[in-house]
Amino acid sequence: MELVRPELFDFHGVAMIKYFTDNWENIQNFQARPDDILIATYPKAGTTWVSNILDLLYFGHMSADRQKTIPIYNRVPFLESSLPTMDSGKELADKLQTSPRLIKTHLPVQFVPKSFWEQNCRIVYVARNAKDNVVSFFHFDRMNLLQPDPKDWSSFLQRFMEGKMVFGSWYDHVNGWWQKKQTYEKLHYMLFEDMIEDTGREIDKLCSFLGVSPSAEEKEKITGVVQFDEMKKNPMANYSTCAAMDFKISPFMRKGKVGDWKNHFTVAQNEVFEEVYQKKMKDASLQFRTQL
Ligand code: A3P
Repeated sequence: MELVRPELFDFHGVAMIKYFTDNWENIQNFQARPDDILIATYPKAGTTWVSNILDLLYFGHMSADRQKTIPIYNRVPFLESSLPTMDSGKELADKLQTSPRLIKTHLPVQFVPKSFWEQNCRIVYVARNAKDNVVSFFHFDRMNLLQPDPKDWSSFLQRFMEGKMVFGSWYDHVNGWWQKKQTYEKLHYMLFEDMIEDTGREIDKLCSFLGVSPSAEEKEKITGVVQFDEMKKNPMANYSTCAAMDFKISPFMRKGKVGDWKNHFTVAQNEVFEEVYQKKMKDASLQFRTQL
């Protein structure tokens, strides 16, 4: 199959590509169940990491086959996806045999299908500091042939600041979800940097939000399995089974670090970025760390 890199277009004020809007009516009419858990992120914030943790928390005790034979994108369907290479996210979600259903989305908060709110579903949001997020996104767009062509780093960074990325502006995304958290109780807002700093502590917080209580032994096992090096070598967690990704260009599990932006941003780029950041990030209650 010939893979065609899609073009970005404006979709109700958010930059999108057809692979995430083609199935729009079905997505908006998606029927959530009260025990569904939505994992929401801006792309490259740690979606796969948290998806894997949740899958292990709920289903780690099931047959070992689940973790060894089913890629993470089939265990945790990507709600809005309608890619030419696989079943749509909605089809995959409808086919899930396990419950609770774990469902991934990159939608900005205003696009989430209303049944998730009506059913009062639990939602886990993961955010990552803008500088590392844009670096990760750049390498992802290089290697994922179903993403728009990233072109050169400096123009990519410029477009990131303008919100011209798939799923729109990082600034609007993290702020929109942060505001939602102030009024919607069942939203757990996590930070990638906290996860890197102390994965076990963040899993504990996640468990108390979810109301699950794994044994100390189970928790230790999960913490081990989801370490970067372990996930990187696990074909069911590292996306190596995904036809649209070219690992020769860059692996999906690339570095998994805080602060890699320093290897990409020039001093001048950093100055401009900081200026834009101050203008767009007015809410002092939402703070990110760009180094640990
Ligand atoms: P890098 O490109 O900076 O390495 P997403 O799943 O949202 O697409 O995010 C992918 C990013 O999360 C990649 O960042 C990837 O390496 C990182 N990541 C995935 N699993 C991780 C883990 N177990 N530990 C640390 N980082 C992880």
